[in-house]
Amino acid sequence: MARNIIGLDIGTSNIKIYSRDKDTILNEKNIIAIANKKDVYAFGDEAFEMHEKAPDNIKVSFPVKFGVIADFDNMQVLFTEFIKKIEHVSKKIPPADYYVAVPTDITEVEKRAFLELAGDSSVRAKKIMVINKPVADALGAGVEVMDARGIMIVNIGADTTEISVLSLGGIVLSKAVKFGGNKLDEQIIGAVRKKYNLVIGAKTAEYIKYELGSAIREEEHFVDVYGRHIVTGLPTRCSISSDVVYECMIDFIRQIVDAIKTILERTPPELSADIIDTGIYLTGGSSAIRSLSRLINGETDLHINIAENPSECVVRGIKKIIDNPKYSDIAYIPKERIID
Ligand SMILES: Nc1ncnc2c1ncn2[C@@H]1O[C@H](COP(=O)(O)OP(=O)(O)OP(=O)(O)O)[C@@H](O)[C@H]1O
Ligand SMILES: [Mg+2]
Repeated sequence: MARNIIGLDIGTSNIKIYSRDKDTILNEKNIIAIANKKDVYAFGDEAFEMHEKAPDNIKVSFPVKFGVIADFDNMQVLFTEFIKKIEHVSKKIPPADYYVAVPTDITEVEKRAFLELAGDSSVRAKKIMVINKPVADALGAGVEVMDARGIMIVNIGADTTEISVLSLGGIVLSKAVKFGGNKLDEQIIGAVRKKYNLVIGAKTAEYIKYELGSAIREEEHFVDVYGRHIVTGLPTRCSISSDVVYECMIDFIRQIVDAIKTILERTPPELSADIIDTGIYLTGGSSAIRSLSRLINGETDLHINIAENPSECVVRGIKKIIDNPKYSDIAYIPKERIID
């Protein structure tokens, strides 16, 4: 039987893994809980439940920051746990080939860290292949990437926004903006503290973003949340206004729109003509911000295509590359050999 192939999109907030043998996609929070500095207490969605709630001896952390591996040791432990989970094994991981999607605008050292994860002896990668993330992303969004046709794809994730123009299965232009949805959550934490004297955690901020966040100002509406009052120190319920949320988010959303416009200005005319035909493809979890497509459409006059389940576009594209020989040229061998 042919060896299994595993595809990886290692995000700041969520890790997405495809196993060809198991024919499944695992999508979980990319977070680990370590007890007493050494034992894995929980990982993934289960560890996320403990985030901001754990006692001092349990450290809950996200090893990926701004789209790159910031804490290699914890990422490696976490990665091994996820692979065991998707492969339904408790100890020895069966040998497999690994197809790893890497961001475009990162250093060679940062890129190597992604590949070394799978090169780890406990994972036992037989072969490691690299895929440029925006190409997989476009395929996952349902775009035919191999044609001689310009495609614009914008992935707005948790800590990164990647804007790319593709043609013939390759990247023509790309720009990375070093923030995404997490920045909006941070802005909400700051605004709620300032406006309501209320301290809230990251999960509450994200909830407020889902409920009230919009790229276009809406008629004022409210959502009730709990936090700790700065002055009294007591748990307090507070009604948050959509206007406050809009005001604190909009500058950052505009920066993303401006970056899209900059790339459009730099796009060669023949490719621009194609983009006018097909529009812009929006992917990544944060592309689901309400009215974002309306704002970008208003600013660029281009049609906006919104992907279904946008957080999983990259891994769905990797799946297509693994499953369909037509796309096999998209994956390539890394410049430096990782495994001896
Ligand atoms: N409905 C929604 N509205 C607004 N934001 C959303 C929505 N659903 C998910 N998000 C945001 O999407 C982000 C996660 O998306 P995604 O899984 O694409 O990120 P990631 O791949 O982990 O990050 P990155 O690519 O930056 O490393 C989070 O910031 C989350 O708050
Ligand atoms: Mg991502």
